[in-house]
Amino acid sequence: MTHPHLLVETHGPVRTITLNNPDRRNAQTPSLWAALADEARAVGDDIRVVVLRGAGVSFSAGIDTAMFSPEGVPGEERMDQIAASGVDAAERAIATYQEGFTAWAQCPAVVIAQVHGHAIGAGFQLALAADLRVAALDAWFAMRETSLGLVPDLGGTGPLVHLVGYARALEMCATGRPVTAPEAHSIGLVNSIVPAANLAEATQSLVDGILFTSRDAVRALKPLLRAAIDNDAAEQAGAERSAQVPLLMGRTASPA
Ligand code: CAA
Repeated sequence: MTHPHLLVETHGPVRTITLNNPDRRNAQTPSLWAALADEARAVGDDIRVVVLRGAGVSFSAGIDTAMFSPEGVPGEERMDQIAASGVDAAERAIATYQEGFTAWAQCPAVVIAQVHGHAIGAGFQLALAADLRVAALDAWFAMRETSLGLVPDLGGTGPLVHLVGYARALEMCATGRPVTAPEAHSIGLVNSIVPAANLAEATQSLVDGILFTSRDAVRALKPLLRAAIDNDAAEQAGAERSAQVPLLMGRTASPA
């Protein structure tokens, strides 16, 4: 076990990582983010799909709000300590936290967030860190940071704007309002929505679809499509060629 609130199970090429602190709605802490970054970096070529999910009634209700209290969370930095550490140290601390989210983009497997119940603040941002999102109809998303006088800073702003556009992202983050699963689906925030009772089955069906295709092609596809977000047309055409040639050569080398 890498962290007391993280459950990691591997079945063949599929790894399921469960946030496992249901009594606190899978509230997140810096040590959890460090463990998530370690998990993302530990995904090797044998794993083709990673599923991120939450135990209990929530995907995750975000940062453990006790980190803002004078008592804090035992064993974790308090937010007032981070704020008092100075600009450079505070930015370094946040950069470390962000790795628990941004590291999933670099991981070779396709990462699916299986979201039910609440995905608030850091929980919403963890869902955004995945490549794909499958949501239960009972799920709702809320970027609550502005209610705490803060901005989303765990890698979520880029994917959010990319998925739903600047104006929708601004409205969601500026108000902190809940976004229901049907709305999230209609604006492209989640790939699919299903009744809560069918959520695991829907995730499995997506996993099966990914496992059905070529491992090497999907491994090349993820960085190729991610690069398309920032590349201009010529750069992306070059990236397509670079991804394709080794695959073509591999096909030619294999017996029919
Ligand atoms: N941190 C710590 N504990 C939390 C928590 C959180 N984020 N969310 C819920 N809990 C705890 C509650 O304190 C409660 O504990 P007790 O049983 O000991 O009282 C337990 O989980 C159950 O919570 P509720 O009774 O409130 O459960 P609910 O189902 O009625 O409501 C909820 C669930 C809507 C998620 C509500 O708990 C809630 O609004 N939580 C706070 C959400 C929040 O504001 N998160 C921070 C967002 S900002 C962020 O994440 C990013 C950042 O960097 C600032």
